[in-house]
Amino acid sequence: MVWTRQEFSVKVKEGLKQKHPWKNSFHLEMPFGLINDPNGLAFYKGEYQFFFQWNPYGCEHKQKHWGHVSTKDFVHYKEPVLAMGPDSKFDKDGCYTGCAFVENEVLQIVYTGNVRNEKKERESYQCLGILQKDRTIKKDKVLIEFQPAGYTAHFRDPYVFFRDGKKYMILGVQNEELQGRLLIYGEEKENWHLIGEVQTELRDFGYMWECPNLLRFGKVDVLLFSPQGLLAERYKNQNLYEVGYVMGELDAENAVLQHGDFIELDHGFDFYAPQVMEHDGRKILIGWMGMPDRDEEYPTVAAGWMFSLTMPRELILKDGKIHQQPVRELEKLRGEFSVAFTGCIKNWSYVLPRRSEVDLKIQLNDIEQLHYTLFFGSEQIVFSYERELQSMSIDRSGMKLGGQGRRRFKLDCGEVLEVRIFIDQSAIECFFQQGEEAASFLYFPQKECIPEISVQADTSWENLDCSVWELDGLAYEPRVEN
Ligand code: FRU
Repeated sequence: MVWTRQEFSVKVKEGLKQKHPWKNSFHLEMPFGLINDPNGLAFYKGEYQFFFQWNPYGCEHKQKHWGHVSTKDFVHYKEPVLAMGPDSKFDKDGCYTGCAFVENEVLQIVYTGNVRNEKKERESYQCLGILQKDRTIKKDKVLIEFQPAGYTAHFRDPYVFFRDGKKYMILGVQNEELQGRLLIYGEEKENWHLIGEVQTELRDFGYMWECPNLLRFGKVDVLLFSPQGLLAERYKNQNLYEVGYVMGELDAENAVLQHGDFIELDHGFDFYAPQVMEHDGRKILIGWMGMPDRDEEYPTVAAGWMFSLTMPRELILKDGKIHQQPVRELEKLRGEFSVAFTGCIKNWSYVLPRRSEVDLKIQLNDIEQLHYTLFFGSEQIVFSYERELQSMSIDRSGMKLGGQGRRRFKLDCGEVLEVRIFIDQSAIECFFQQGEEAASFLYFPQKECIPEISVQADTSWENLDCSVWELDGLAYEPRVEN
């Protein structure tokens, strides 16, 4: 089954109008099918261009197309379209993840074509495409056929960057010892040659590295990637697959990365395969809110769609760490404001608008243990802070549907715990200590209900400051009422 562009557009328009208690409104998601990694993020022709993995025909990790939306302001988006689908012999089993960059005033796309050959073996091709005026991608040619010797066919997710006037590409790969690695290619006269495996200190660090991005903050190189197969520790690596970064210096010509420790980027349950774009001196990240190989944790499948993308976030390097905050443009979504509370109390609770931003600041003074809970009727998500251990945990076991469990991470609040919580219909994103840590996850309340927040501590506090905004939804063109 393949829909025509016209049929597709009708389905999208109808789908965007449909209401469902779990349909998010200020998170990008598609009205049907399954979406995953953000792809090809770039600023082009006055707009932010976002592509993403999309199987429009079902909620399975199959038939991966590239969907496309664009926006000038992160609030108003063009209606989603399909930019390309798995219809060539080099990508017949999926147009997998890739990147975009502007060259000669054209938006070029490099992505992985995934193929199952007659022997049912995987083949990976790194392919070039060009964005057309009608928002489709014209497939141009294959840049790299197959992986080099010593590696398996898990060879994908090209990310192109420029340095000293030269063009490079990094790719995630698995070596024949089944370890995650990174390869770097260089371009000369439109031909790509292998420079080598990027030498890092991460020799035994999972069995596959997906979705690498290389960012530069001043002179600091940051390699952001999604490793699979790390062992969980008490405060680290608690998801099935992780996302994080190392910082240092890349010598691209010699394929050497000197770097520090791996730092996780987000501590929530549903965050994977993010991509970063740069424009106007800003680095903007979007991640996939979901987790591969955990499909049973997402009950929206029964209603015909799956997964969401995070709000666009700006990344800033501060005190040796990446800090993240939603892009400031999203403040335009703020509606009615209430100063929920400023004062001194021991137990406190407050009814929130269904879609809200909650900015909470608590002066800790003598407090050692503190919980704040989001209630959805009789269900709940509990955040607990243990000051001495500098431990924050998020417990989703109080929710009946979808993924449960707990995530724990280190958080140094000093004297004041600060958190911004963005609550959408089934997505929550939290930014702690002015973006020093983040946690993104999905939740699926059994009954449609108005959320409530409550805060409790082991001793009375001097000062709790809580501001709440009702949040509006994203708008699609032609406009669809939220
Ligand atoms: C990450 C990933 C990528 C791949 C894509 C396929 O979620 O597995 O490595 O290119 O998704 O949809």
